[in-house]
Amino acid sequence: MKRTVTKMIESICLPQALDFWFKQLNINYQTHTPTVKVVSKTIINDVVKLVLKPSKAFGEFVAGQHVRLKLEINGIGEERCYSIANLPNRAGLVELFIKVQGQVSQSIKETVKKGLVLDISKPFGQNHQQSFDTFIAGGIGITAMWPLFKASNNKDAKLLYLTRINNGSQSAALLKEIKASKFYKNGQVVIENGRSFLSDSANIGEFLEGAKKAISCGSEGFNEVINTQVYLVKPDISLSFESFKSTNAAPVKHEIKTDIQVKLINSDKTIVVDNKTSLLDSLLNAGIKAKHGCKQGICHECTCRVSAASLLNDVNKTIQLCTTFPSTDLELEL
Ligand code: FES
Repeated sequence: MKRTVTKMIESICLPQALDFWFKQLNINYQTHTPTVKVVSKTIINDVVKLVLKPSKAFGEFVAGQHVRLKLEINGIGEERCYSIANLPNRAGLVELFIKVQGQVSQSIKETVKKGLVLDISKPFGQNHQQSFDTFIAGGIGITAMWPLFKASNNKDAKLLYLTRINNGSQSAALLKEIKASKFYKNGQVVIENGRSFLSDSANIGEFLEGAKKAISCGSEGFNEVINTQVYLVKPDISLSFESFKSTNAAPVKHEIKTDIQVKLINSDKTIVVDNKTSLLDSLLNAGIKAKHGCKQGICHECTCRVSAASLLNDVNKTIQLCTTFPSTDLELEL
């Protein structure tokens, strides 16, 4: 009897159990389970801005990191990864900009209210803010590039923000600072219609003058255009990408291949994969513990070096496993 009572008391006092009760009472006392309280919610057309106050267990974040927000929709737990759109601040607040484009974001728009407590992951993702001199953002990709740009130690860093005019005014309204900021060396805020701007490679050539290391963040299609245009005018630049892409979408427009060999050099293994499953999923399905985070091409946790492949036009030998669908045999430094 004594043992049973002791076990009961112990289980009630487990940090996780205490966190459960603190979640209902006051998240500031939670020590193990990261949660956030919704401080405010703003909706402008198809973008929801959430300002969140995290519990202690959330810890600290740096510019350019991401979180997974957890929700229950019709009794099913769902998670989505979002970039933290602000810099660390004394109030400890976290801002997320969520484009409404699927069931989860629609549910956030409709059901998340001020005062609600949500489960969240700890912040994650590489801290690469200091290494770029040029930032390119397409549409809602601005939310990932903006904090990196602001935190950059490079005083000559430039940010090019390309978006459709309508979306641009929405995002700019949300990210009010953009209106007053000097992104460009001539001091102008650059909000252009992506297509017409990019059809003129002279413009992007002027923007890229002096650029050595750039990063582009946007939809997969946006990054493809940037990839082509940038290398056209500046073939020697080092260009990285963050793509917003659903790994569930069928990416293969060509014939399905099921006999692609992926050699893992460091672990001396070879697995056979197909071209309709992301490399990350193929590795995980084969029981290989590949490091990953968002599975959406955002966090860079799954970045891996390729030693021989014809991926991404062979321009960059570093790939993100979660958004790469192999078309040919390759070797990974894994
Ligand atoms: S980029 Fe986050 S897991 Fe691949």
